[in-house]
Amino acid sequence: MPPSAADIRSRFLAYFTERRGHVFVPSSPVVPHDDPTLLFTNAGMNQFKDVFLGRRLPGETRVANSQKCIRAGGKHNDLEDVGRDSFHHTFFEMLGNWSFGDYFKAEAIEWAWDLLTNVWGVEKNRLHATYFAGDEADGLDADEETRRLWTEHTDIDPTHVTPWGPRDNYWEMGDTGPCGPCSEIHYDGTPDASGASLLNAGSPAVIEIWNLVFIQHDRGADGRLTSLPDRHIDTGMGFERLVRILQGGASNYDTDLWTPIFEAIRSESGARAYGASLEDPLDTAYRVVADHARCLVVALTDGARPDSEGRGFVLRRILRRAVRIAHQSLDVDGPLLHRIVPAVVESLGDAFPELHRDPETVAGVIRDEEERFGRTLDRGLLLFETAADEAEAVGDTIIGGKSAFTLHDTYGFPIDLTQVIALERGMTVDLDGYERRMEGARRRSRAGGETGALGPGPEAHAGLQAIPPTDLAPVDEGGSVDAVVRAIWMDEAMADAAGTGAEVGVLLDRTSFYAEQGGQVGDAGVLLFGGEVVFEIHDAQRVGASVLHLGTVLGGGLRVGDAVTAHPDEARRDRIRANHTGTHLLNHALRCVLGDEVHQRGSLVADDRLRFDFSHGHALTDEELEAVEGRVNDHV
Ligand code: SER
Repeated sequence: MPPSAADIRSRFLAYFTERRGHVFVPSSPVVPHDDPTLLFTNAGMNQFKDVFLGRRLPGETRVANSQKCIRAGGKHNDLEDVGRDSFHHTFFEMLGNWSFGDYFKAEAIEWAWDLLTNVWGVEKNRLHATYFAGDEADGLDADEETRRLWTEHTDIDPTHVTPWGPRDNYWEMGDTGPCGPCSEIHYDGTPDASGASLLNAGSPAVIEIWNLVFIQHDRGADGRLTSLPDRHIDTGMGFERLVRILQGGASNYDTDLWTPIFEAIRSESGARAYGASLEDPLDTAYRVVADHARCLVVALTDGARPDSEGRGFVLRRILRRAVRIAHQSLDVDGPLLHRIVPAVVESLGDAFPELHRDPETVAGVIRDEEERFGRTLDRGLLLFETAADEAEAVGDTIIGGKSAFTLHDTYGFPIDLTQVIALERGMTVDLDGYERRMEGARRRSRAGGETGALGPGPEAHAGLQAIPPTDLAPVDEGGSVDAVVRAIWMDEAMADAAGTGAEVGVLLDRTSFYAEQGGQVGDAGVLLFGGEVVFEIHDAQRVGASVLHLGTVLGGGLRVGDAVTAHPDEARRDRIRANHTGTHLLNHALRCVLGDEVHQRGSLVADDRLRFDFSHGHALTDEELEAVEGRVNDHV
């Protein structure tokens, strides 16, 4: 009967505390509240960074624990591999023992070997040890001492001790911070232990399980290494991998760490049971959902929240990936993830008691996020399918930047999710085109724009300022106005003419179009030439003292000097006007019901809707909402 995951964890801790004089320290949170260089806690040593750097004295000189780690962004990022392989996770546990200026290489190596082979009985011929081969760029010699310690202090097969370069055997926690050469222990899971050539080759058959780092340098912001006053030991063993080996599973997921979570997914989704195939999309979905659920539960418990940037955005991406795959591969319609929370808490709660603190709040945050994304998921997937079909119809395998941007902007598909979905269909995404549109969106948001239309960039402002300003007198009168085309802005440059289908910006000598302002969208309408529609305008933006009409060229094209009639869509403008009045009514009603401390934070006034952002001490109660609604309706 193989040991349970819980037994393995406690055996590790007992070995170091009872037999080797270490003190147990609890895992630090996965949210490193006091270290701006880190997105998430990515290694057990993070909480000891200041001790290594000599800025803080350690309470004890030998400590051990199981640290909660997330590697889904930043220097160590395993997100892309999760679910597709059998041994990477966004959240994982790292078993570690540390020496702060106390023991060094010899003990770290001897004890790791003793625990693996004598205590746990791992077959010696399946273990390999690597050491640092040196690095000219950093002026570091090969770590011959470590090679000698392995061959003289353990009975490892000497041909299983091999040198590797800095990428594999010089460990750093981030761009800066404590670091040093390391010695990794790899496990050969090939049937006849013949996998030596698969070392460090990304093969699931031969995997790194334990990393012994000999911390002795600090990497500064200038990229240079300086020696630390003391030498330290920092070891980290992948708990999920160790459990797999000791339980004899073919993959990390074939262990009792995962089976209860898979069972919860099965019973909540009604899907067939997990079948452990790496190719079957349903099994991949099981792995992704289980992995992401663990990651979210741990991160939310430690205080992180899904958000539109930084750490919170990493979590939102993880959650949306899980929601999408549950919907498409597990065939789940409503929110599923939050229903897996109890199984995750049950599985990890003994090791990390904080998970029992408030699982209801954690589940609530997850459910809110799931519902939010669930509202746009189907329509986003439909847009993706249409874009993919259109591309394939012309023999293309690229999803256009415009579709990727709309998926992000309108349907909440982070770009990496769109890439995953594209990859499943053997397609890629036009990242440059996507990025160009994102840059436009960022520009708008920096300028405080609210309407979501693609506005003119700084180049347009510079290029167009030479043109005399537009006469805006007709704007207040409304209606059509005769005008002359003064300039055409196309593909980020001035043009004399634009052909049918071109997306351009047009400056006129005079206009009756309202430009976007203060959250109110710009006018739409058309330009007529000889009674024929030659330009369909979907937005009007301010450029200096002028109005740039943005739209699509139709009919026979458009030239600078053309005498045209500018014709705004008046019915649409009336609807915008009504919504504008609506924001004033809403503002007034909010103040009447909630008091004067309601502050407007922004607004959107469009032809089909309005949005009014305000700050207030708490979420509105149902009664308050009804009172506000009643007042606005009375005024209307
Ligand atoms: N810091 C090293 C790692 O994360 C060993 O703990 O691999």
